[in-house]
Amino acid sequence: MTDLVTSVTQDGVATITMNRPDKKNALTLAMYDAIVAAMKAAEEDPTVRVLVFTGAGDAFTAGNDLVDFMQNPPDLEGESPVSRFLAAIASFPKIMISAVNGIAVGVGTTMLLHCDLVYAADTARFSMPFTALGLVPEAASSLIVPAMIGHRKAAELFLFGEQFSAATAAELGFVNAVVPAAELMAHVAAKTARLTALSPSALRLTKQLMKSQTPDVAGRMKEEGTIFGRLLRGPEVAEAIGAFFEKRKPDFSKFAA
Ligand code: COA
Repeated sequence: MTDLVTSVTQDGVATITMNRPDKKNALTLAMYDAIVAAMKAAEEDPTVRVLVFTGAGDAFTAGNDLVDFMQNPPDLEGESPVSRFLAAIASFPKIMISAVNGIAVGVGTTMLLHCDLVYAADTARFSMPFTALGLVPEAASSLIVPAMIGHRKAAELFLFGEQFSAATAAELGFVNAVVPAAELMAHVAAKTARLTALSPSALRLTKQLMKSQTPDVAGRMKEEGTIFGRLLRGPEVAEAIGAFFEKRKPDFSKFAA
């Protein structure tokens, strides 16, 4: 396992920390593999009742590593570390919580849609800048976000891809509560202490019942993956990611609409 992801189990809670603070915890393929392995271990460990995701330093995660995107475009339709991660968060059977300690970009925001509970620091910021990157939404967010907030508000978030605050995230239903940054982990620990004292079968089956009404998440992930993968190998994404690393605005004027 890479040390860019750590997993610690204590008092019935497995905490997975994305640990690449100098790159705002941007997720490399090795990190996705490490997270999936840690999730599998947590699922199989009978002492683990709750899983918590958080980030090291001042970021939750800046989303997919953009260097990896260009050098090793993942196969989101088939088998890849990213698709295994998406499948794992969609089907994890125990209670899954995110403690969003800072910026959450791309999959950093869309993964929250698969968590049962999300707590955010007041300093957290959220964004899904897929269009700015020449891409489309992933993690079945194109299905879940419109169902959660309606087409109009979802269109605003997805089409402009602008950052939004923790307060807005709470208003829209991405997070349960916003707490002062210094109190985030204590707040989450108080919640997990309550959960670990409850009947594990009741928790697991309650989650299963709630998730069973969600329409075809796996199918939408595949559909998104087909389009996402095609775009990822195309010139508009190359322009967008090139612009990010060259610290300039992307120029999409040369591409046909
Ligand atoms: N992939 C690869 N490297 C990334 C990254 C990513 N997704 N996000 C940040 N980094 C790197 C930066 O290149 C920088 O590296 P450097 O110190 O070697 O120059 C470092 O992490 C710190 O990022 P920086 O941009 O200086 O921090 P910031 O606080 O000004 O901004 C973000 C933070 C997250 C808003 C900004 O980095 C960003 O927009 N990142 C891209 C997010 C993104 O598009 N993700 C993909 C979504 S699908």
